Amino acid sequence: MCLKLILSLSIAGLVSASQIPGPEERIVRGYYIPIEYVPWQVSMLNATLHRCGGVIYSDRTILTAAHCLHNVAVKDLSVRAGSSYWSKGGQVQRVLKAIKHPKYRHFPNPVYDVAVLILEDPLKLGSAVDEISLAENTPDAGTITLASGWGLTRVPGFHWPILHGVHVTILNRTECENYYKDINYKVTNDMICADAHQGDTCKGDSGGPLVDTKNRKLVGIVSWGAGCGTNPGVYADVAFFRNWLKYTVQENI
Ligand SMILES: *[C@@H]1O[C@H](CO)[C@@H](O)[C@H](O)[C@H]1NC(C)=O
Ligand SMILES: *[C@@H]1O[C@H](CO)[C@@H](O)[C@H](O)[C@H]1NC(C)=O
Repeated sequence: MCLKLILSLSIAGLVSASQIPGPEERIVRGYYIPIEYVPWQVSMLNATLHRCGGVIYSDRTILTAAHCLHNVAVKDLSVRAGSSYWSKGGQVQRVLKAIKHPKYRHFPNPVYDVAVLILEDPLKLGSAVDEISLAENTPDAGTITLASGWGLTRVPGFHWPILHGVHVTILNRTECENYYKDINYKVTNDMICADAHQGDTCKGDSGGPLVDTKNRKLVGIVSWGAGCGTNPGVYADVAFFRNWLKYTVQENI
């Protein structure tokens, strides 16, 4: 059953560059959370539609997944911050520049899947709009983290209007690597894996935050997975990208 799902998803990936094997992810088996609980979360909009999640690094910079920039023009992009709804409320700011990691590749699964967005005007920070600092270290296996987004809540589904979150546990990377090797995907040292009891991120959650809430640090950015809630979710390892992210923000702000 798993193999069939992955196979069909892989074919979809070949047909359309915007479809990642598995997801551009959604929250599965999560729950509604108000934006004040994850004030670093934004929705990245393409024209008027939710495209991906994003994370507030500073009032003028947003972190997201590089694959979220497929088939979009920077002039059409904006972010909505400070709202539990992707479609209304909060603050909307246009994107001025979008910088993908130069080593980003898309197939067979995304690698170096991070990007920095520079906003035209700064966000006003407050209780529902706030920055989050980057983890210095890759989280240990067993760490409980929180992922959030407006992605699909079941397969097949739709972009949920209200923000959802799910707690997921960081997995041992070697074990995750071996797991995905068996189904021909490559988990590399720029990635971390996490799962829960079928709780997961899914299509539409990509680019969103994975946070160690105890220390209030961004540990991951939603990237990919095979299916949603059936296999471990894979995230860009923020500690691995920390220097690149900081440098890129400094150079472009
Ligand atoms: C983004 O929006 C533009 C303008 O509406 C549209 O042409 C394009 O297909 C959209 N891209 C994606 C990936 O949805
Ligand atoms: C991860 O799993 C591997 C293989 O099961 C094991 O050898 C290794 O010690 C584990 N690493 C950690 C940090 O738990």
